[in-house]
Amino acid sequence: MTGWTAADLPDQHGRTVVVTGATSGLGVEAARALAGAGATVIMACRDLDKGRAVAAGIDGATELRRLDLADLSSVRAFATGLDRDVDVLINNAGVMAVPHDTTADGFERHLGVNHLAPFALTGLLVNRVRDRVVTVSSGLHVLGRVHDDLDWERRRYQRWLAYAQSKLANLLFAYELQRRLAAAGRRTVSVAAHPGVSATEGQRRDTSLQGKILAGGPAQRPEMGVLPILYAAAAPDVRGGVCIGPDGFLQRRGHPKVVGTIGRSRDAVRAAWLWERSEELTGVHYVIEPTGVVP
Ligand SMILES: NC(=O)c1ccc[n+]([C@@H]2O[C@H](COP(=O)([O-])OP(=O)(O)OC[C@H]3O[C@@H](n4cnc5c(N)ncnc54)[C@H](OP(=O)(O)O)[C@@H]3O)[C@@H](O)[C@H]2O)c1
Repeated sequence: MTGWTAADLPDQHGRTVVVTGATSGLGVEAARALAGAGATVIMACRDLDKGRAVAAGIDGATELRRLDLADLSSVRAFATGLDRDVDVLINNAGVMAVPHDTTADGFERHLGVNHLAPFALTGLLVNRVRDRVVTVSSGLHVLGRVHDDLDWERRRYQRWLAYAQSKLANLLFAYELQRRLAAAGRRTVSVAAHPGVSATEGQRRDTSLQGKILAGGPAQRPEMGVLPILYAAAAPDVRGGVCIGPDGFLQRRGHPKVVGTIGRSRDAVRAAWLWERSEELTGVHYVIEPTGVVP
């Protein structure tokens, strides 16, 4: 698969893909490439005006829907309002190393936007996604620990560690979801992806020395960074339960391939703990139907 580019995307006509955070960076590139290959892309955005402007520049079928991941009532409204089953759900939207802040439901923002909301969204849609759920993590998951104090109530807040915890949570979630889909007899697969280091708003916004050190060198263009996400979403040979990332040095840049993730991301006991906690915190309890029962 080395050397794979967006030009290698299989024909996407007849497929519907939800992309969260399709107003900036990698989400825009994912929407553009998938719509360009023939998919109908449902752009799930918190800012509809911004979404409209992005959609106007995309050649292909797009639809805009409102989704604010910092508010679980918006997640529920999005899921209720979705008028059809979809082939792929790409959990891409995220915040990166932001100062301490809380979501509408009172969760620390990285936890709420990057993990709990995608967990809830996926749970509400799980029986309506035919092919794949792609969850976008980060190489910085290696700095993460999923702490008993998940919501940063009893420890000093550190924004990069809060980001890293949420990105490790993305992997624990993606791998646990795959185990649960398989156990339920559902053909839908769960795949993780990470873009290496890509020049997007999220990346540029952080001008701190710490951010520069963690980026570890120049960022690749978002058109390159998006390739692992596209591969995870559409390449025919992708198995559930893997992570797709760049094939270059330290997974920072390059073309998509299956990459390793830190041992902690494969900890099934911690993943089950996080799952239970996420169900409690979001109120979304997964009921996964086997493929074939779903209309
Ligand atoms: N760029 C990198 O080097 C890099 C590296 C590793 C992982 N990632 C991951 O890649 C994903 C995309 O990041 P990016 O680099 O493309 O960043 P970005 O340019 O900042 O885009 C982030 C997207 O998420 C959306 N978003 C933020 N908060 C939201 C909320 N409450 N509800 C709904 N949408 C929300 C943003 O919407 P607005 O436009 O309204 O702000 C935007 O569309 C993230 O999951 C990030 O962790 C990126």
